Amino acid sequence: MKKLLFLFAFVLAGVSGLHADEGMWLPSEILKKIKDIQSQGFKLSAEDIYSVNKSSLKDAVVRFGGGCTGELISNEGLLITNHHCGFGQIQSHSSVEHDYLRDGFWAMSRAEELPNPGLSVSFLEYMQDVTDEVLKGYKTKMTEEKRSELIAKNTKKIEEKAVKGNPNLRANVRPLYYGNQYFLFVYKVYTDVRLVGAPPSSIGKFGGDTDNWMWPRHTGDFSIFRVYAGEDNEPAAYSEKNVPFRPKKFFKINARGIKEGDFTMVYGFPGSTREYLFSDAVKYTAYTSNPHKIALRTLRLDIQKEEMNKDQAVRIKYASKQAGVANAWKKWQGEAKGLIKNHAVENKQAFEAKFDQWAKGKPEYEGLVTRFKELYGSIEELSLVQDYQSEALNAVEIIGFAGRGQRGAERFYKDYHMPIDKACFVALYNAYNKNIADKYKSPYFKEQLQKFGSIEAWADALFTETPNLEMAAEIYKNTNDWFRENIAPTLIAVNKEINLLYRAYMKGQMEYNDATNGGKIFYPDANSTLRVTYGKVKGYKPADAIYYTPVSSLDGVIEKDNPEIYDYNIPQKLRDLHATKDYGQWESEGSVPVAFIATNHTSGGNSGSPVLDAEGNLIGVNFDRVWEGTMSDVLYDPEICRNISLDIRFALFVIDKLAGASHLLEEMEILK
Ligand code: ARG
Ligand code: GLU
Repeated sequence: MKKLLFLFAFVLAGVSGLHADEGMWLPSEILKKIKDIQSQGFKLSAEDIYSVNKSSLKDAVVRFGGGCTGELISNEGLLITNHHCGFGQIQSHSSVEHDYLRDGFWAMSRAEELPNPGLSVSFLEYMQDVTDEVLKGYKTKMTEEKRSELIAKNTKKIEEKAVKGNPNLRANVRPLYYGNQYFLFVYKVYTDVRLVGAPPSSIGKFGGDTDNWMWPRHTGDFSIFRVYAGEDNEPAAYSEKNVPFRPKKFFKINARGIKEGDFTMVYGFPGSTREYLFSDAVKYTAYTSNPHKIALRTLRLDIQKEEMNKDQAVRIKYASKQAGVANAWKKWQGEAKGLIKNHAVENKQAFEAKFDQWAKGKPEYEGLVTRFKELYGSIEELSLVQDYQSEALNAVEIIGFAGRGQRGAERFYKDYHMPIDKACFVALYNAYNKNIADKYKSPYFKEQLQKFGSIEAWADALFTETPNLEMAAEIYKNTNDWFRENIAPTLIAVNKEINLLYRAYMKGQMEYNDATNGGKIFYPDANSTLRVTYGKVKGYKPADAIYYTPVSSLDGVIEKDNPEIYDYNIPQKLRDLHATKDYGQWESEGSVPVAFIATNHTSGGNSGSPVLDAEGNLIGVNFDRVWEGTMSDVLYDPEICRNISLDIRFALFVIDKLAGASHLLEEMEILK
């Protein structure tokens, strides 16, 4: 079954019904796409992208920490990723005396490089289709429970065999196409990863949340690390005796510059996309879930902002929290707008109607569409209850903290400001009370509300001189127990069936496409596994009468520069370098390039990913997407979806001219 399916899914390579730029491709399957990639300008072969026998581009790409990508840029283990990816490490080494977030940090010798317990980078050794092994022993008559058990058992065996007791290897079997296919991923994990350098936040986070998710962008979003290994070049726990890791492959740097129309390839670890979603789920996202979650976060952000503006100490405490709250808040807005503007729901519905017709008389697919509608309809209200559980009830800081056993108390209180939390409780619990039907609220919630008379009075009891931890824990326990016992079971059961439908629907979409000569080529949704995307440097038209060109420069940084505004207050030294045009070899068209946009199909997790030219040299570091195109996780539109990358020349300029760390440039191979 599966073998057959994936044959036809890929046969049409080159006659793409997808827009050339859409898709996140599995490196090991790239042979099926290479003709198209080359027709876009790429000069290397499929073997150069991914090979298990010789070194290839994949060997210079790592999964960095929990959710980012990084890449090797010297044969001595030097690695570049985003500033926002190294943020936690930079912060952890910072104190009032050495504020590396504010001032930046540069190790001027190897001895000054700072170890980071808990941080690791993972190199993909190989990946492999293991569908047959995972489904070994499967019979079509099996219940879903039995199938899951079988898969779990087979998966465990495959993973154990893959690591053969080697403690430095990690193996994961991951489903693709909703479980129509399974792949094994084997990684080698290095745990001695040291901080080498980071620009001040006023460069690395320039524009802050104001510019986040937006173009034009002027953020120098990079930080530099070094991977260390034992003398045998294998992973080793931190030790002074460790030596710089010698990678199988590192990226040469193309500092000759890019221009509109140039080929770009992004190689990294996108986290999660939902490109084959049913229309009702898209509708729920665009018209219900996102608007509610946005409104709840707006309440929190407004409260935080008000208190932060009153007091500098509070501003510091909440800077990182606010960035976290604001990041998804802003993305959801762009996503909902984009889905609506692109008629995503209507287009999906039109497709589903045709699919439904075609499915008639095919037992595997007949009635899928109707069943999807029934199931999604049956959980719409419960899904909103779930959104409110996490974005309202559990979003009050003290309630989450007390409810989860007061873990990390010192850290928690260091960045805690009770007036913010109290105001959030009032706002969020009122919103919950108003927008969630009574029958979905716990008896506990209703009793408390009745007892106190109002959320405000309840808040006065919860937040006195200090927060009442006992009461906070009680709220957490009671509302979450209720949710777990009365809401979650239905959600879980229905979602299980929905996922099962998707397995059939995914296969059906491919068959339908084949039967109708749709010419579409399918790619598996992102799932934090290594992917290749390719496209071109290209501007876009975000709205009527506006066209954005694709490259930003230092002149734009200076235009935004404003000592009065925190997000736009750059270091004096950068002003001076601009005033004297001291750009060194990084000058281009009278300025220094800072960032550029391209049509690569990326997602969260692609932060820090290498952006490569047609020869596989590094031209940039991916760090964001444009706001109007954030719906690309659900629907990619080549007119509007753009990834945003740091131009590598800006990083080199900062390292050279601002940090005076030119010794780092010497270990890189820079093509001029
Ligand atoms: N939007 C980017 C991402 O999703 C950058 C986030 C960090 N920057 C910020 N200003 N919050 O990760
Ligand atoms: N900033 C995102 C990240 O950390 C990448 C932007 C995106 O979602 O495409 O992964």
